[in-house]
Amino acid sequence: MNVGGKLKEAGKQWVKEDPEKREVYWPTDEMKEKAYFSDERIYTQASKDPEGFWAEQAKKFIDWFEVWDADKIVELEPPYFNWFAGNKTNLCYNCLDRHLDEHRNKAAIIWEPEPVDEVQKVLTYMDLYREVNKFANVLKGLGVKKGSTVTVWMPMIPETAIVALACQRIGAWHSIVYTAFAPHAVRERMQDAGSKILITVDGFYRRGKLIGLKKRIDEAQVLEKVGAENCVVVSRVNGGVPMKEGRDYYFDELMRGAEAYCEPETITSEDCSFLLYTSGTTGKPKAVMHSCGAYSVGVALTMKLVFDLHPEDLFWSTADIGWITGHSYGLYGPLLAGATVLWYEGAPDYPTPSRWWEIIEKYGVTIFYTAPTAIRALRAAGDKWVEGYDFSSLRLLASVGEPIDPDTWKWFYEKIGERRCPLVDTYWQTETGGILLSSLPGIGPFIPGVAGPALPGVNYDILDETGEPVKEGEFGYLVVKSPFAPSMLRGMYKKPEEYIAEYWSEYGTEIYFAGDGGIKIGQKIGGQPLIKITGRIDDVMEVAGHRLGTAEIEDAVNELEEVVEVAVVGKPHAIKGEVPALFVVLKRGVEVPKEEMDRKIVVAVREKVGPVATPEAVFYVSDVPNTESGKIIRRFLKGLVRNEALGDMTTARNPECLKELAEATKYRGPQKIPGYNLSAV
Ligand code: WT7
Repeated sequence: MNVGGKLKEAGKQWVKEDPEKREVYWPTDEMKEKAYFSDERIYTQASKDPEGFWAEQAKKFIDWFEVWDADKIVELEPPYFNWFAGNKTNLCYNCLDRHLDEHRNKAAIIWEPEPVDEVQKVLTYMDLYREVNKFANVLKGLGVKKGSTVTVWMPMIPETAIVALACQRIGAWHSIVYTAFAPHAVRERMQDAGSKILITVDGFYRRGKLIGLKKRIDEAQVLEKVGAENCVVVSRVNGGVPMKEGRDYYFDELMRGAEAYCEPETITSEDCSFLLYTSGTTGKPKAVMHSCGAYSVGVALTMKLVFDLHPEDLFWSTADIGWITGHSYGLYGPLLAGATVLWYEGAPDYPTPSRWWEIIEKYGVTIFYTAPTAIRALRAAGDKWVEGYDFSSLRLLASVGEPIDPDTWKWFYEKIGERRCPLVDTYWQTETGGILLSSLPGIGPFIPGVAGPALPGVNYDILDETGEPVKEGEFGYLVVKSPFAPSMLRGMYKKPEEYIAEYWSEYGTEIYFAGDGGIKIGQKIGGQPLIKITGRIDDVMEVAGHRLGTAEIEDAVNELEEVVEVAVVGKPHAIKGEVPALFVVLKRGVEVPKEEMDRKIVVAVREKVGPVATPEAVFYVSDVPNTESGKIIRRFLKGLVRNEALGDMTTARNPECLKELAEATKYRGPQKIPGYNLSAV
């Protein structure tokens, strides 16, 4: 990606805070005593020799079939890097087999269904091992091989974990698609990956409603259109869905005849362990490729370093398995650590906004990882829904997905953490596989709105547009420098050019450009500057913690015959953080009533992208600002919906459209615009 002059503009829009007003919290003595890491010298030790640091962690946390070549802790071939080159291991083996001697009867996954009258399920390590082995054999029986892509459209139920781990066992790549995306999104992803098998469910429960996934796949004829050879259906609700003879099979049916043991495949440092589609700055979602051994090292270390996960802990990450957080910290991380993880099927506010708090009390959750948008929503429901619950089991809170505003931070810290539990704000991305920046629970500090320092061994910086590190208090771009972090992506499936364009073009092929803005706040820990993340500086939105590309929504709307042009930007929203706002130019003479057109647009977006991307504001205008080359200047549109400075207008081909836009959006921001006089028109 090349964001060119955007940095300057974004920097101007950033309002400086008063550092004196920042509240700083530190770990309690109890936490310091218990924590695996409580000595800040870990930072200096790791930065002296990052490779040595990571190699030490790799030996500690992962069992290797073969270790890496001694002189190749990391092999750098910009813009590619290969950590622990030559290693051989298996992620499923590390999550299950190696734990059996010590705790085969320990709970691996505790599952809470959404309907309150249904009973929970507990899968021990042995249970999971048994089921995963069988399903690995089922997959083999269906012709799935090492390197085949298995598409998974499944909710938070134990079978999803079984399917994912079974893929790991045989070296197949799972591509898990979020259930709030549309069947069309499943189809696109299957096509892109050349995937011939889909694993899904008859249905599941979300906010009391039955969501029939297989039916939706059939209605959209996804399997026919991609030429799928097989579809495996987990019967979650005894839905009795239509099954096509010879192509569709019930999970249980296949499992009945399956062999009990499947030898774990040897996965090398050159292999991929899964694909995960994510939104970028251009067009269609692209598949990030993750490694096996190196990814495992990053994820396993952060379970201890950031989450301080002890054997007796009960870890709950509320993220859905369809996102990287669900992969790394809802599944692989906790199991790599031999811990117990909680999975909840449904919505946070069903049947009441107390559901999550009830679950914490019921099971005695000790570490709770969630997103600011969820906290804002539950807080908005009113404090009465929190009162009276027993949170004494909790010892650590964590946040992810977007910057957490100080107000929400403090509410979470006080009401749920009872001012006792550290709150760590973990910054990372689908691409980084694991956490990159966060304060550590036994070291601190915990500052509302500030993510913290980079993790030990992670070489990052904040640069200005010329590539120079910014001064304290100045805004810049977040980058990761050599030797990067072991859990980071190994490439983009079938799209090497986009891999370079997205991450390695802003500062060249030796500096990973994350797409986020940040500030060094002027305080340090262990010699490391503390960082405040200010959010995306590109065309990627975070809607209720879900990453969406503006381009995908634009493509969906552009397909409507009434539409000439559309531009999507993120509009601030009190609970969701951002929501998609659309500027739509209709064909001349189109006389569809506004409500009707709104409905058409919403339907198009829900069908093509999914309910998660539903637009919340549509502005019908006669033109949108373009550059001479015809590129929509979204920065103006963003400024308009945010009531922020609009920035330089001199590059626009059609500045006169601004007046209409300002009126449509009821813009109340600064009126002075270089190259254009808003109030004079
Ligand atoms: C983008 C990545 C990483 C799992 C969830 C999202 C934003 C993530 C934070 C945080 C500020 C954050 C960034 C990033 N983000 N965590 N603690 N503070 N921003 O993964 O869907 O790949 O999105 O989420 O903008 O680039 P993702």
